[in-house]
Amino acid sequence: MRKKVDFLIIGSGIAGLSYALKVADHGSVLVVSKSKAAETSTSYAQGGIAAVMYNPDTYEKHIQDTLIAGSYLNDEKIVRMTISESTDRIKELIEWGTNFDMQNGKYDLAREGGHSEKRVLHFQDKTGAEIQRALLEAVRQHPNIELLENQFTVDIITQHHLGVVVKRSTPDIQCYGAYILCPETGKVSTVLAKTTMICTGGAGNVYQTTTNPKIATGDGIAMVYRAKGAVDNMEFIQFHPTSLYNPKERPSFLITEALRGAGAILKDGNEKEFMQKYDKRKSLAPRDIVARAIDNEMKLSGSEYVYLDARRIPENEIMNHFPTIYAKCLSIGIDIRKDLIPVVPVAHYICGGIKTDEFGRSSIKNLYASGEVTSTGLHGANRLASNSLLEAVVFSHRASIDAIEKIKTIDFCDGIPDWNADGTVTNEEMILITQSRKELQSIMSNYVGIVRSELRLNRAMTRLEMLYKETEELYEKSIVTEPICELRNMIKVAYLITKFALKRKESIGLHYIIPN
Ligand code: FAD
Ligand code: SIN
Repeated sequence: MRKKVDFLIIGSGIAGLSYALKVADHGSVLVVSKSKAAETSTSYAQGGIAAVMYNPDTYEKHIQDTLIAGSYLNDEKIVRMTISESTDRIKELIEWGTNFDMQNGKYDLAREGGHSEKRVLHFQDKTGAEIQRALLEAVRQHPNIELLENQFTVDIITQHHLGVVVKRSTPDIQCYGAYILCPETGKVSTVLAKTTMICTGGAGNVYQTTTNPKIATGDGIAMVYRAKGAVDNMEFIQFHPTSLYNPKERPSFLITEALRGAGAILKDGNEKEFMQKYDKRKSLAPRDIVARAIDNEMKLSGSEYVYLDARRIPENEIMNHFPTIYAKCLSIGIDIRKDLIPVVPVAHYICGGIKTDEFGRSSIKNLYASGEVTSTGLHGANRLASNSLLEAVVFSHRASIDAIEKIKTIDFCDGIPDWNADGTVTNEEMILITQSRKELQSIMSNYVGIVRSELRLNRAMTRLEMLYKETEELYEKSIVTEPICELRNMIKVAYLITKFALKRKESIGLHYIIPN
């Protein structure tokens, strides 16, 4: 099947949908998601979205908090731009139908680690699900937007598919659309697009334990890297300090940082506070510090978790602000009003990704990217809590301005060939894929986790190279399927994380390296 659209958008989270709503009055729009449209990291976001709303908060305070959390490795121009546009983007989310909790006629702002003020807009403890609901409803009502679920994007199309040799040094690499697999029929469509927007989210599934839903396999980063586009900042993987310790559950259930913002305190197995040993901001220090402190406490005690004590939070606040966490914990026998919550750090967010400029433009012409898949310069060495949803709406907005302007000057590239499946056969041996996926997750968790060393990183690289070789050989001869594509993408992303980690010799932010 061949299809032509003005705006192709890969991903149906906050980045993809907010961009779709912006460009839809200017041409035909196709949004594809590899799962159900609402199965996104966006839907899982709990704490909320950071923005400057009222006194005593100021843009300058939010800017400084973002730079401090990022160890000043951020691009200050991008930080200033993103934060000074935060209030306008929040107004748009509200206009599109998003509800945020109010108190006494004002938005009820929560506090999270690293924030010097209360500035996190939220809807109870399910902010992301509320944003996803509102955006999806708006998208479904727009006549110019087609939404295709359960469609897996395999690769973006460039002049490489016209037989031109494309290298990383090739100037003017251009994107002409994407090859999209329907896993149900096994057919690959050629979607020609004037502009393509990648909003494929994160890559938490390259680790053994993660808060990320199963869609987060780094596909967008891998596709763009394969197409010789630029990626950056890949060593900075954020581990969320407090996921609920419940070993059989995947994804790991998050206990929002806003619970610590409301007064919950981290404690060791003897019910003693320990964060004062690591940082004067204690349980509300930025995530890199808290996750490392917990990791250290677990290593010292030999325990698989520490505790979060929420018992001093008033019951009405628990019920009004944190009903989902209350119900979830109760479902496994923990009453958070009376019991301590066992928590453990898990992979949560990738600060790096496709390198973009201030208009969401990647290094490839007519290819934009927004959301967790990007490296915009906002986060530096560590993302400040609740800045991710904000980054997505700001960059989708800015990319829409550029794409709407350019669309009039771009033509479709009709000479693109359809997908070539010659010489491939059905791969009956799923075990080869599932086992390699497990191996990959184990390598990354054990050697490229919260604490790294050159020895561990080199060990990871050697093993990843072997997995890469085996998987590429399998891919070349197999009929294309979602599991083999995901594995291939995960290996590419794991390789990039490790390669960037090996290049950075000093400890900074989320990259913490010890001597061998
Ligand atoms: P996503 O929302 O993840 O959407 C990705 C989309 O891409 C999906 O539709 C998926 O199907 C599609 N896709 C992926 N690969 C392909 C492919 N090959 N083909 C087709 N489609 C594809 N951030 C905050 O700012 N505040 C919070 O409170 C917060 N809480 C969080 C809690 C949890 C549990 C998690 C996991 C994350 C949280 N984050 C939070 C981070 C934030 O939710 C994400 O970074 C953000 O939602 C990412 O949005 P996105 O639009 O970039 O990607
Ligand atoms: C949380 O609610 O703790 C997650 C916030 C985030 O990832 O920004």
